[in-house]
Amino acid sequence: MLAPPIWIYNFVASTIDCQRALKKAFIPEPEKDSFDRAFSYMVKKSSMHYFSYKHGELYAEGIPLAELAAKFGTPLYVYSAKTLRRHFTAYEKAFGAVPHIICFAMKANSNSGVLSALAHEGSGADIVSGGELFRALKAGIPAGKIVYAGVGKTEDEIKLALKNRILMFNVESADELEEIDRVAGLMRVKAPVALRVNPDVDPRTHPYISTGMKKYKFGIPLKEALPAYEAAARMKNINVVGIQKHIGSQLTELEPFKDSLNRLLALLDLLEGRGMKLKYLDIGGGLGIRYTEDENPPAPAELAKVVLPLIKGRDVTLIVEPGRSIVGNAGVLVTKCLYRKSSGVKDFVIVDAGMNDLVRPSLYGAHHDILPVRKAKRPLEKVDVVGPVCESGDFLARDRQLPATARGELLAVMSAGAYGFTMGSNYNSRPRPAEVLVDGDECRLVRKRETYRDLTRGEM
Ligand SMILES: Cc1ncc(COP(=O)(O)O)c(C=O)c1O
Repeated sequence: MLAPPIWIYNFVASTIDCQRALKKAFIPEPEKDSFDRAFSYMVKKSSMHYFSYKHGELYAEGIPLAELAAKFGTPLYVYSAKTLRRHFTAYEKAFGAVPHIICFAMKANSNSGVLSALAHEGSGADIVSGGELFRALKAGIPAGKIVYAGVGKTEDEIKLALKNRILMFNVESADELEEIDRVAGLMRVKAPVALRVNPDVDPRTHPYISTGMKKYKFGIPLKEALPAYEAAARMKNINVVGIQKHIGSQLTELEPFKDSLNRLLALLDLLEGRGMKLKYLDIGGGLGIRYTEDENPPAPAELAKVVLPLIKGRDVTLIVEPGRSIVGNAGVLVTKCLYRKSSGVKDFVIVDAGMNDLVRPSLYGAHHDILPVRKAKRPLEKVDVVGPVCESGDFLARDRQLPATARGELLAVMSAGAYGFTMGSNYNSRPRPAEVLVDGDECRLVRKRETYRDLTRGEM
């Protein structure tokens, strides 16, 4: 069958209702697949983010990704402000019926532009280091909305947090509690603390992003929590204000979340029975996002449906610490195909983004959809999409069916907004990519591409 002229293809791509009929009639077999992939992706995911095809071009909100790549180079992280706001608002609405603070988990994405956009919406921050505290304050997040977790807080970090009067420390061990008491004593202040409790519940996610089980380093074991609270209450420089748990990331089921919350609430009841009144109930973050089309993680509203009945009638301020579910689908990594090659058993598409730019596929075997920035008719091929880093583990996708990719062509690695840039490195002395924030028809460079000079800064 004859292929249709390109304008028909483009028209189809921008007209959801009639695409099925036209596609059936005109698109040759292999292209049907690539068309289907891209289009179904767009239809299914369009409710969750603002990256979509218009006239065969992949856009971030109102700007073509190709235009951004031409202006800022590749590899390039592109974030959608509208998506960030949408996801943050989804949490605000979901928990609107109770006193609450949404503390964005900065480890997912700590770019100042992203943080300022969230601060503007009223976000607090969940931090895990002095560096994150510095960034949060600089971006305008009020100290009174900052909670501080992490198993290895140093004296200097504790001092910085106390000096800035953060909302509370989420304390991860009895040793840390003693240290915070000591440092607060030196500074003649009282340190507000919650104990992070490890509820020993399997979150049913990747082991590297599980936290709430005994075998992991996080939190104070449930059994030891009561004596730890009693010890904290006796400390002169500690003000016990809350309780916290976080069981893991990329959670796709709510049952483990519910289980762990029930365990926490039983402890809370016990503490209240002993006259300890806690103001903050921090339920952590962890909601997953849809990386593949068959994943269907719960939305914030579904989480709230589980959480709110369980805490009904309790006089607490709820704290939620989402990271990935706010920023994950709000970002893509745009990369250029440098070369193609075949080993005889595998075909490789070699791109200019590597594991140092986005480590999730190499580290967790994570899946990210990869889409052509310009949709054009072509057959599908099975390839490994690999970066320039000198490691066989440097890949963005393996054995992936993609529309045939030509040298010089741009690809978008989707859902790269969380744990993307923040987990990046300079491995192989590769300067880290630029980051751009798009808002409607406007874009702002929110981090310059690093230069070679940046690579040696600080070295003697
Ligand atoms: C204490 C704490 N809170 C919140 C989060 C955010 O998790 P997510 O990005 O899955 O929402 C993490 C991430 O591991 C965490 O360790």
